Amino acid sequence: MTRFYITTPIYYVNDVPHLGHAYTTIAADALARFHRAIGDDTRFLTGTDEHGLKVEQAAAARGLSPLQLADQVVERFRDTWKQLDIANDDFIRTTETRHKQVVADIWKRIEAAGDIYKGSYEGWYCVSCEAYYGEGDLVEGKRCPVHKSEVSWLSEPTYFFRMSRYGDRLLEHFAKHPSFVQPEGYKNEVVSFVKSGLRDLSVSRTTFKWGIPVPGDEEHVIYVWIDALTNYMSALGAIDGDLHRRHWPATCHLIGKDILKFHAVYWPCMLLSAGLPLPETVFTHGWWTVRGEKISKSMPATRVDPNRLGEDIGVDALRYYLLREVPLGLDGDFSYEALIGRYNAELANDLGNLVSRSLTVAQKFCAGAVPPRSAGRGEQSHGELEQVAREVIQDAHDNYAAYAPSRALEAIWRLVREGNRYINNTEPWKLAKDPARRDELDHIIRTALEVLVCVARMVAPVMPKTAEQILALVGMVGERGQEAMHRWPQADRFGAELELGAPLGPSTILFPRIDEARQAALLETWIPKDARIGEPQVAPQEAPAADGAEVTFDEFGRMDLRVARVLTAEPVPKAKKLLKLTVDVGEAQPRQVVAGIAEAFRPEELIGRSVIFLANLKPATIRGVTSQGMILAAGADAVLGLSAVDRDLPPGTRIR
Ligand code: MSP
Repeated sequence: MTRFYITTPIYYVNDVPHLGHAYTTIAADALARFHRAIGDDTRFLTGTDEHGLKVEQAAAARGLSPLQLADQVVERFRDTWKQLDIANDDFIRTTETRHKQVVADIWKRIEAAGDIYKGSYEGWYCVSCEAYYGEGDLVEGKRCPVHKSEVSWLSEPTYFFRMSRYGDRLLEHFAKHPSFVQPEGYKNEVVSFVKSGLRDLSVSRTTFKWGIPVPGDEEHVIYVWIDALTNYMSALGAIDGDLHRRHWPATCHLIGKDILKFHAVYWPCMLLSAGLPLPETVFTHGWWTVRGEKISKSMPATRVDPNRLGEDIGVDALRYYLLREVPLGLDGDFSYEALIGRYNAELANDLGNLVSRSLTVAQKFCAGAVPPRSAGRGEQSHGELEQVAREVIQDAHDNYAAYAPSRALEAIWRLVREGNRYINNTEPWKLAKDPARRDELDHIIRTALEVLVCVARMVAPVMPKTAEQILALVGMVGERGQEAMHRWPQADRFGAELELGAPLGPSTILFPRIDEARQAALLETWIPKDARIGEPQVAPQEAPAADGAEVTFDEFGRMDLRVARVLTAEPVPKAKKLLKLTVDVGEAQPRQVVAGIAEAFRPEELIGRSVIFLANLKPATIRGVTSQGMILAAGADAVLGLSAVDRDLPPGTRIR
């Protein structure tokens, strides 16, 4: 039996699920469903990445331990996947024991191969990437080439992985396995990266604690990417166990282009060193922007909420749009208007009409039961339709199998449109007037219903609920329905799937058309009013609540106020009121804040001062600079003085 093991990246728990995460997961789910339908021994894994500095900082900013934060956010991911009909076989969290054991095992294998040595590392660190960069990699001054956020200089003792040893073997592997990195364009990118020479990789950290300890040296935690990549294997249990033997190597790691290097270079090098087989394919999908903008926390209008869309327009419609709109591998731009456009044209119109019209004629002329197929066979219109169905079954199959769900759907719509044309051309309502042509009428209606079965089964990987509904409407319920739903149709069985006399459902509108009024109402609720696209959100500068307005003790208690020490201060270019500060708030890493105090203080006056700091203010981007909290100052309009504590207290001390 062919194996098919597909994975999504494991998502960081410093953010809640958004459109980008939903996209990867929906695409992987559709591919897994297809492979189950063609009988492959399929496994589909997703999960969460819970270690590392990024998560530690996000937790500290909320006054939580990293595990408390992870426990909360992981539920958001699980709920979202449930709501979006994601049928994963397993969900891995990197804080689980089963994961930690395999990470330690892989580390030891790499160590036993002589590929781990101790040294020290200095470099520019990007917390968003959880990676070091060389001076030459930085852009726009000292910014990360991926996130464009500021990097910080770190220096620490570290263990290195001798990755430099594996460049040639990796290039050989690429040459022998041309489909290892897909699509082709990404392969070229990876090959030239490897050809430019691999450096040894720093694979442990001492500057924070939130991670898996290095076996034998608890001072170090294992670098989060080594930890994270191993999830694909740890979810299968011990390396000599049954699940591992059955499913490893993975058939496909489906990933976003931002993490290609980790999957197509670091991970295979680790596996080569550990003496374990490499995954078959690393498939990179493109990047979604939202109405032209990158999805980002500081721009609420880009934070498309997949749950919300699923509730308002239907989960299947969202799944369909995402997989149909952009071929897997290319970048795409999300727009609500395009979503509604495809919904109306392809779901309400093409597919919805086919379903409602076929059932209308079947109810009217066949007394609501599946009619026989008989006379009239071989006539041109039937023959053509059957031929199209057979071709489409093959075409859609080949495209799903080639990671091209968009083209598979395109192929299926050829049959949907052909089905509508068939009903138009054969005009069953006219035939019904001539009792002598009863057999022909039955055959036509039967054929239209068979098209529905075939379409339902082929769209099932992308639109499982819709498929189930259609099958139930044509009398395929219970075991028969389940069997149809979960098996890919066979071309030579087209026309013979339905059970003669099975009761049909009523003519049903599966996708009610979204008219202009409803479209306007939906857009109104979907697009946040407080932030327009193209304008970064600036921290609110509202007047304080009217004097005398009360807050409850609980409301006050939600403020995470702490002592903070100013470490650095500098002007923000072209903003005469703003200073950019870094402050020590008792966490592993300093925070960066933008404060509107430049007219009252010179930067050098501030360094070393202790101030009162609001640590759980929602981060914001002000003039392109991220601000992670707020310094309290006196003065309503102009700043008159800075908050302070009356004695020397350690940074991080709570204020209450
Ligand atoms: N934790 C790492 C991955 C470790 S895998 C061993 C990580 N997590 S993440 O939460 O940042 O999610 C990354 C993945 O989410 C991307 O690789 C991509 O699959 C998906 N996407 C996030 N934003 C996206 C878009 N705007 N567009 C498309 N996919 C995006 O990186």
